[in-house]
Amino acid sequence: MKVLFLNGPNLNLLGSREPEIYGRLTLADIEAEVRARAGEMKVELDFRQSNQEGELVSWIQEAKGKFQVIVLNAAAYTHTSVALRDAISATGVPTIEIHLSNIHAREEFRHKSLIAPVCRGQICGFGVKSYILGLEAAVYVKEATK
Ligand code: DQA
Repeated sequence: MKVLFLNGPNLNLLGSREPEIYGRLTLADIEAEVRARAGEMKVELDFRQSNQEGELVSWIQEAKGKFQVIVLNAAAYTHTSVALRDAISATGVPTIEIHLSNIHAREEFRHKSLIAPVCRGQICGFGVKSYILGLEAAVYVKEATK
């Protein structure tokens, strides 16, 4: 089974970016934790980050036929991007929305996710564990759609 983890804008700054909200782990630290768990679960991973909306759209399109599930932290594009939402529904690859922080407990503009209606589910508020739970949800979704 192959899972594609996609990370949106500013997540390359994790570690130094608002640590009181996002914690002190870098994206590389998070990737290492996800890879360790994926190894135990015999899941193959690709783990990418982009600050460009169009690049994320292309990666979602290209996932079809290559990855069984996408785990997506779309970061700020969660709240703004019709293009990401359309890419998810157009390609039909089951997608799990994740966030480090609890977007519903933050500013009102973060409460709305444009991608949530086309995702299989949403995990938020657990820091790095949101990524691990996202991986577990990916395996669950794949098993459930066999
Ligand atoms: C985030 C939450 C978003 O609202 C924010 O724009 C991010 C990170 C999270 O992981 O908590 O960049 O997706």
